[in-house]
Amino acid sequence: TLPNAVRIVEVGPRDGLQNEKQLVSADTKVELIRRLEAAGLKAIETTSFVSPKWVPQMGDNTEVLTRVLAAAKRGVAYPVLTPNLKGFEAALAAGATEVAVFGAASESFSQKNINCSIAESLERFRPVTEAARAAGVKVRGYVSCVAGCPYEGLIAPQAVADVAATLLEMGCYEISLGDTIGGGNPASIARMLEAVMKQVPVAQLAGHYHDTYGMAIANIHASLQMGVAVFDASVGGLGGCPYAAGASGNVATEDVVWLLDGLGVQTGVGLGALVDTAAWISAQLGREPASRVARAVLAK
Ligand code: HMG
Ligand code: MG
Repeated sequence: TLPNAVRIVEVGPRDGLQNEKQLVSADTKVELIRRLEAAGLKAIETTSFVSPKWVPQMGDNTEVLTRVLAAAKRGVAYPVLTPNLKGFEAALAAGATEVAVFGAASESFSQKNINCSIAESLERFRPVTEAARAAGVKVRGYVSCVAGCPYEGLIAPQAVADVAATLLEMGCYEISLGDTIGGGNPASIARMLEAVMKQVPVAQLAGHYHDTYGMAIANIHASLQMGVAVFDASVGGLGGCPYAAGASGNVATEDVVWLLDGLGVQTGVGLGALVDTAAWISAQLGREPASRVARAVLAK
């Protein structure tokens, strides 16, 4: 049996726009977030407090978060990425009430993405989770490369489970499992989830699947059947990852909503407003929305 309802975490403003070559203005980012709220999304990852030398696209993090929070919608969460204490302090100063730390199940990806080993990264996250607890800030944890690594290839499900369990033990309320390169399929995702679910309750897991090989919707369906009820998605299928060459965007939010509407699973998100938002942000970037659902709905 499938869950009755799914929580969608919209990651387009962060995971999507961090990978766009052209710089998008803070005005456009804030308007995108306002449109996503209006479409019914209740969790919108807003920006990341990482080094602007590494990811210039998120260099306006303080401005964007401050403006978004100044007109925050009741009941909506606006998490931001914080790789270390420096990022956490900047996020807190801008008013963040939810942050995310991001680790990986692959040593090489950890080095390329955050310039340290997996063990070092976990040591850096611990003071973030402690400071967050003291400040009453919620922390989400990511594990990247759960179904393969751009540098190492196959990743053992147990390596994913180990990092996920450590993040949970540190106090992350939810662990988002990132198929960073979109190389997973329903069989490999199920094997990975089976290992992780031995150490982390399924109610605290989220699926974060990139759609590089077009398998993300199938992977979500497989995860739903195993009880996962939280999925990350990006409006219009924006994005990718700057440290995973060739990786395409997250699964499109409108594809996820179309699937869940069809399955009778509640999301609280309106497909029409979401597709309009996909068309709007894609036009800002000078292109058509990437997702099949947006194209089909707009063609009607
Ligand atoms: P580092 O160079 O090892 O850091 O970078 P450091 O501590 O040695 O400091 C070096 C300089 O960076 C110093 O400045 C620090 O102040 C500064 P300088 O003295 O040279 O002028 N610095 C910072 N500046 C701003 N914000 C900070 C910060 N920390 C240090 N938080 C660091 C380490 C993690 C900062 C760097 O590697 C980085 O920013 N990496 C970018 C990571 C990133 O954003 N990746 C994309 C997001 S993850 C993702 O997309 C995957 C996900 O979607 C899930 C999935 O799909 O799998 C989540
Ligand atoms: Mg991602």
